[in-house]
Amino acid sequence: MSDVVSYELVNNVAVISVNNPPVNALSQAVREGILDAVTTAQEDASEAIVLHCEGRTFIAGADITEFGKPPQEPGLPSVLSAIENSSKPVIAAIHGTALGGGFEVALACHYRCVIASAKVGLPEVKLGLLPGAGGTQRVPRIAGVKAALDMIASGNPIAAPRAKDMGLVDEIISADDLKAGAVEYGKALVKSGAPLKRIRDITIDPANVEPGFFDAARERLARRARGQIAQDKIVSCIEAAVNLPMDEGLQRERELFRELVTSPESAAMRHIFFAERLAAKIKDLPRDTPLRAVNKVAIIGGGTMGGGIAMCFANVGIPVLMLEIDDEALQRGMGIIEKNYKITMLKGKMTEDQLGQRIGLITGTTDYADLGDVDMVIEAVFENLELKKEIFAKLDAVCKPGAILATNTSYQDVDAIAAATGRPQDVLGMHFFSPANVMKLLEVVRGEKTADDVLATTMAIGKRINKVCALSRVCYGFIGNRMLGGYGREAQILLMDGCTPSQVDSALEKFGMAMGPLAMGDLAGLDVGYKARQGRTDLPDDPKLYRMGTLLVEMGRYGQKTGSGFYKYDPETRARMADPEVEAMIKAEAAKIGIEQRDISDEEILQRCFYPLINEGARILEEGIAQRPSDIDVVYVFGYAFPVAKGGPMYYADQIGLKQVYDKICEFRDRDGEQYWQPAPLLKQLAEAGKTFAEWGSEQ
Ligand code: 3HC
Ligand code: NAI
Repeated sequence: MSDVVSYELVNNVAVISVNNPPVNALSQAVREGILDAVTTAQEDASEAIVLHCEGRTFIAGADITEFGKPPQEPGLPSVLSAIENSSKPVIAAIHGTALGGGFEVALACHYRCVIASAKVGLPEVKLGLLPGAGGTQRVPRIAGVKAALDMIASGNPIAAPRAKDMGLVDEIISADDLKAGAVEYGKALVKSGAPLKRIRDITIDPANVEPGFFDAARERLARRARGQIAQDKIVSCIEAAVNLPMDEGLQRERELFRELVTSPESAAMRHIFFAERLAAKIKDLPRDTPLRAVNKVAIIGGGTMGGGIAMCFANVGIPVLMLEIDDEALQRGMGIIEKNYKITMLKGKMTEDQLGQRIGLITGTTDYADLGDVDMVIEAVFENLELKKEIFAKLDAVCKPGAILATNTSYQDVDAIAAATGRPQDVLGMHFFSPANVMKLLEVVRGEKTADDVLATTMAIGKRINKVCALSRVCYGFIGNRMLGGYGREAQILLMDGCTPSQVDSALEKFGMAMGPLAMGDLAGLDVGYKARQGRTDLPDDPKLYRMGTLLVEMGRYGQKTGSGFYKYDPETRARMADPEVEAMIKAEAAKIGIEQRDISDEEILQRCFYPLINEGARILEEGIAQRPSDIDVVYVFGYAFPVAKGGPMYYADQIGLKQVYDKICEFRDRDGEQYWQPAPLLKQLAEAGKTFAEWGSEQ
């Protein structure tokens, strides 16, 4: 019938098969193929129609690469109308993931059968969109308004058994031969005279929706939106499903979908979707680089990071051996892991059995001799180079040949650590982010001598433990922490120049950062940065530099852990409150060092904090530390909570225009001094050439 859609009659049932690898996305050819096949089936001897997919999954959605391009006929809504108006029952046979437009196709069918491992979902919100082919109108009609809102506003997929309970699918069938099972199911439906169930014919009684439900939902979602605009429109669509007839609801959905698909927020989120997948690819490594087997992992150090990393592996069924300095430290580490799992269980996100299984996968030791059979070791002891070298020398002595030896160091030289072993080719950095069991980013740090298969295996393991991986070369702080220096510095200098802590943080939070830098400092502990500064000899001798951070620590105000830092914290609720004492102190300190304070706009706050990130990002690119600009965006979105609706710092810079960023940095240099502001040569070059980082990246 077409290259991507085939048609056959099996036992008097029409079987339409989509074959558009890798994920059977609904490209123009697929839409046309399905439409033709459904039309054909109306005329032939078939009694029922099964829509099924080849390969690893049912249709995983619209073809995202087509967004932003001129629409091509047939549009998805007309395909769905043809299915829904079929005179013969149409049955979707789902395996893998029926997502977005793919699930909407299934919802237009009269029946949905799934295998038990399948998942269904409407993840459009994660791309800054809403389901644009009836999802917002059909799901509330079968699953209820509240469940529909939860599903569509979260975008999370739903496993087959729960989907059945919710009424999203009709039948779970054996996985052995889905196509044959679906044909049987179709025949049985015909035999029993089952009606053509059209979801559009269901009406929702508005009286069943509690008063104020939509307003409360809007408010709740707005609190977490961080610059995203789709959530609010999703509420409007579901409201339309309750209050308007189906066709008007569909029209409303279509209008709002069109607004979103052309919005800068969705463009940024689509950029991140593809950037995340690209980051997993290492430019100079063949795709078929062989992988080493990783079936057992050891973690050295069971503190804040080690415990979280151990959980990442146990969560996917990989046994972990945790080595600590002594029994007491080991028990403490294991205790924290257990407590964390219990909290997850109490939240209803894990059963007691699962808790038992996961804890059962983590065993402890204090003896290096026990590490002989592990395939991978991740070291997460104190941030001290000599200690790390000592540990790697011990690992070299006890680990089997071919074991991958990784360090979770934040700043130390991975090559120096590798040189402490006789097998530097097996050594690399695996830089997790805190809390390691929650944060999605894993910076994989490639040492000078790291072997290709070690890198490829580590990227694959990262994906297996559900991390988003980005590759960095060795430098101080790797990609993420290296860029962060100027961001934190400017946040503090802005105080001396005339801002209050709340003003700095709220400007960044309005932009979409999860937490402003000063509040973040209070959360992490101001003493951490203080101690790190003690050892540095490269900082300019400038009285305004980190002045407040230093004074607060010297007053014993370390942040949340001491109840106060840049802010005061409510001892019960931990709510942050502006502290007039700190605000007065800032003014007094500025006067002491002769700074005339002035009003500072939110725009300047954003520029002062973000432009150093962008500038350092440019250096990181020209030095080859990051593979591509979009990898830096991935690091910031998944490791530093940069708002995904802004697409990451390098994408954001491209949207502003590099010339504008460059000119502003020059202006700041002329005003505030070269010690803080020196435009990166690559930024200058691109600004002068009128190019973007993305264009530069695609030429490399
Ligand atoms: N359109 C175009 N390409 C897609 C795609 C899509 N919807 N979904 C995945 N791809 C591509 C990826 O970019 C990747 O390409 P690459 O190999 O060149 O890097 C390849 O397919 C494989 O994808 P993954 O690496 O993500 O494969 P996984 O097996 O890990 O995951 C998946 C599979 C769960 C289907 C995941 O790809 C996914 O979540 N896809 C997006 C689903 C989605 O968002 N659908 C909604 C689209 S919007 C929509 O439908 C609008 C409608 O309401 C009108
Ligand atoms: P931590 O102080 O919470 O834990 C370190 C643990 O290592 C302690 O439990 C200690 O008993 C153990 N340890 C010390 N020497 C040991 C040895 N010789 N053998 C076995 N165990 C030993 O420190 P944290 O925060 O977990 O940091 C660990 C590493 O992770 C550091 O290199 C740090 O830079 C890095 N890191 C920390 C992040 C954070 O936010 N805390 C984020 C990313 C990386």
